[in-house]
Amino acid sequence: MKLVEGVVQKNTRLSDSYCLMDIHAPYTAQHADAGQFILLQTARYTSHPLLKMPLAVYGKTDDSITVLYRLRGKKTFCLSEKRPGGSIEVLGPLGNGFKLNGDSMISTAVLIAGGCGIASLYLLAQTLKSLHVKVILFTGAKTRDELIEIECFQSLNCIVNTATEDGSAGFKGNVVEFFAKEIPSLENFAVYASGPESMLKHIARLAKEKSFQAQLSFEAYMACGIGVCRGCAITLLSGYKLCCQKGPVFKANEVV
Ligand SMILES: Cc1cc2nc3c(=O)[nH]c(=O)nc-3n(C[C@H](O)[C@H](O)[C@H](O)COP(=O)(O)OP(=O)(O)OC[C@H]3O[C@@H](n4cnc5c(N)ncnc54)[C@H](O)[C@@H]3O)c2cc1C
Ligand code: FES
Repeated sequence: MKLVEGVVQKNTRLSDSYCLMDIHAPYTAQHADAGQFILLQTARYTSHPLLKMPLAVYGKTDDSITVLYRLRGKKTFCLSEKRPGGSIEVLGPLGNGFKLNGDSMISTAVLIAGGCGIASLYLLAQTLKSLHVKVILFTGAKTRDELIEIECFQSLNCIVNTATEDGSAGFKGNVVEFFAKEIPSLENFAVYASGPESMLKHIARLAKEKSFQAQLSFEAYMACGIGVCRGCAITLLSGYKLCCQKGPVFKANEVV
């Protein structure tokens, strides 16, 4: 982990709610693994927003990283205002990321994304594909317009299944219900998921019931991001764990 001065290369509006930013940050790019995150200082020399913002490493090249972010409040708005050539502080890579070592026996990886949780899964899909693992993505959002970056997964030759709450694209309903319906057709698989806490807890319950391995990436509210404020604690079977230090990825069988 290192604090570096990144340079914004591109900041593209994908839709009403999503943007994609490329940042020149060679150290971060060379050290980031799938499922890790960075902290970005979105405004400098002002006190608001004071806090750094955690974002997943969505993609990377040898010398740059890409982040995919959803416009929510002050920090994400400040980020959307950044122009190419501008500098931005990047701290990272942080967190544990997804573990692939124990999964050498699986033939299929099922990736489940809720909303902007998809941002934590693209680098993972690239890594799994380079290991010749079959990748099936289940991605869910409220409406068709909020389903993003599907083509990027398709161009990696992942099988892509979509769900929307209003039924405007794919399965009508919850993405985990869609996945649960498909479990009988899946063999020798492990799940990797990122999204809202309620979705991850639903997957954890299913994993216990149906006996499959799952790694879940939590997006807890973070203040310091480095284990000082204790604001990101989540409850596991073994007690409280700091999401920024011990996570953001936890095994389903650890989740309450
Ligand atoms: C490890 C980690 C990785 C993350 N990766 C990404 C990513 O790749 N892309 C991305 O878009 N976001 C990601 N997030 C969430 C992102 O950090 C927040 O959306 C961001 O900090 C919001 O800042 P803001 O000032 O724009 O909004 P705020 O003013 O802080 O919040 C605006 C509204 O959004 C809600 N909100 C804010 N943060 C969250 C959250 N974490 N979960 C649910 N609701 C929230 C608030 O309750 C509020 O209603 C990640 C979070 C963590 C902890
Ligand atoms: S965000 Fe401060 S301890 Fe985790």
